[in-house]
Amino acid sequence: MTDPTPALFRPGLAAPGLAAPAEGSSAPVIVAIDGPAGSGKSSVSKASAARLGYGFLDTGAAYRALAWHALAHGADTSDATAVLEVFGDFDYAISLDTTDRWVRVGGVDVTTAIREPRVTDAVSGVARVAPVRQAVNQLFRRLVASAGLPGVVVEGRDITTVVFPDAPVRILLTAAPEVRAARRSAEMTDQDAAKVAAALHQRDAADSTVVDFLTAAPGVEVVDSTHLDFEQTVDAVLSVVDSTMGARDGR
Ligand code: DC
Repeated sequence: MTDPTPALFRPGLAAPGLAAPAEGSSAPVIVAIDGPAGSGKSSVSKASAARLGYGFLDTGAAYRALAWHALAHGADTSDATAVLEVFGDFDYAISLDTTDRWVRVGGVDVTTAIREPRVTDAVSGVARVAPVRQAVNQLFRRLVASAGLPGVVVEGRDITTVVFPDAPVRILLTAAPEVRAARRSAEMTDQDAAKVAAALHQRDAADSTVVDFLTAAPGVEVVDSTHLDFEQTVDAVLSVVDSTMGARDGR
């Protein structure tokens, strides 16, 4: 008989290639980073993780992979029922290794495909579906807990507030809207800057109806990268990690 449990919930999924936690090992330190598109969240989080010797979990990749999966099934990503239907056989895996990053759906490598504009355009629809968010959030907690790593930098829009509200380090990475739009269009050299800015504002507006990622929750440190370059932003994040962990350890 086939296993009726959605693939997402099956054991043994957790990031192949990563060691199982040693018997009696302590839970990884979680550095939770939220922020809007173009704040540098993803690249800064990954670089911070590498400098700390931690793993890195890009949570947006799960929503992108589900949007890719929905599109592959010809599902209407603006229809919650259709999204839930394809979610039933969503077999997702992601690497937490900063030096070997990949995302797979049903064994297919979708690392690059999930960055395509057609996926980006569809992703807000799937990220809006509450049961999807709940299941995916559980998956994130499981992936981190079973990674066998000293720490994991987890990046996404609701990480400091919903997914890991008790993480020892919680950071909201922001930047002025015009700076975020300029950074995004510099990344996408093949697209018109005004169009990129309009798409970014539209996606912020759609996503902020689901999660407030522009305001820091109590206890969340703000790192504003408006006037910082990339390395300075990574340094600012690492300095928050150092001071927060230092205070926690009585340093
Ligand atoms: O960070 P990103 O652009 O790869 O995120 C893709 C989409 O998923 C975006 O619409 C925001 C959404 N998302 C979310 O709702 N919650 C998260 N924890 C991460 C991403």
